[in-house]
Amino acid sequence: MSEAVLAALDNVESTYFSLARQLPGTTISQRSGYLLARSPHRLSFGNFAAAFDGSASVSETLRDLREDAKHPFGLWIYVADDWAPEGLVDALIAEGYTVRQSLSQLSTGQSGQPWRGLVPCETTHSRLVAAKFMAEQFFPSAPAKAKALVAHATASSAHHLLNFELHTRPLASMMLAESERSVGLYNLCVARNKRKLGYGGQMVRAAMSMAASRGKPLVLQCHGSLRGWYESLGFEYLGEFLAFQAGAGSLPDVIG
Ligand SMILES: CC(C)(COP(=O)(O)OP(=O)(O)OC[C@H]1O[C@@H](n2cnc3c(N)ncnc32)[C@H](O)[C@@H]1OP(=O)(O)O)[C@@H](O)C(=O)NCCC(=O)NCCS
Repeated sequence: MSEAVLAALDNVESTYFSLARQLPGTTISQRSGYLLARSPHRLSFGNFAAAFDGSASVSETLRDLREDAKHPFGLWIYVADDWAPEGLVDALIAEGYTVRQSLSQLSTGQSGQPWRGLVPCETTHSRLVAAKFMAEQFFPSAPAKAKALVAHATASSAHHLLNFELHTRPLASMMLAESERSVGLYNLCVARNKRKLGYGGQMVRAAMSMAASRGKPLVLQCHGSLRGWYESLGFEYLGEFLAFQAGAGSLPDVIG
């Protein structure tokens, strides 16, 4: 596994588990070959398997996944396509699990451009305002309770939340999650009526500059339709990050 891939994968897995931990009642447990997050809330980001161990037996891993998928909330299974344990992706497909999302993993070491207009959210109130804005931009039609839980987990995490604001209201926001090898860009969003004006690009360049100042690459996962945009900003494509779904039907915190 290349250093760039390891840096991206390590970041997304540690960030997903850290957010799940902020959901009240969530437990994280070790299974044969992966970690399981299980939450009392019917949300994908609290009920998933990830951090697969390349040295574990695929048949034992599948046996545990089968059991975990029987839960009423089902199971989301996050694996990176090209660097999953040997045979695991094929085995998941053979098992009948469907790929619900395929996100492009990207990384850059470029130094970007600082943006003095960005406001770090440092109080409980400002973090909640930013997190609610993010939940609204990503899951506009989700039930209020689901949006509130997503916002609560984001606001109470240890990750950096940054806003560009107009009259003290967020106009654009992002979350930066630093792990050992990288800084991850998450939840980048611009208010619907302010898109295509260049704010998104400015946020990304500011994130690059912050990662560069920490001496780490900036990594992210995005829908395939945004890959070209990120590449035009200087990112390099690393591969796909797959989300398989087993059971439970549609969940409120899933896009598409
Ligand atoms: C993605 C997003 C942050 C871009 O912000 P923005 O302020 O519109 O970005 P900019 O004005 O700097 O750049 C606009 C470019 O974004 C790209 N873009 C935005 N949304 C896109 C989409 N759904 N599909 C393809 N390209 C898209 C286009 O290439 C566009 O370039 P164009 O103006 O030449 O067409 C904004 O559309 C958004 O908040 N989307 C919803 C949340 C989201 O998907 N976030 C990304 C998480 S990885």
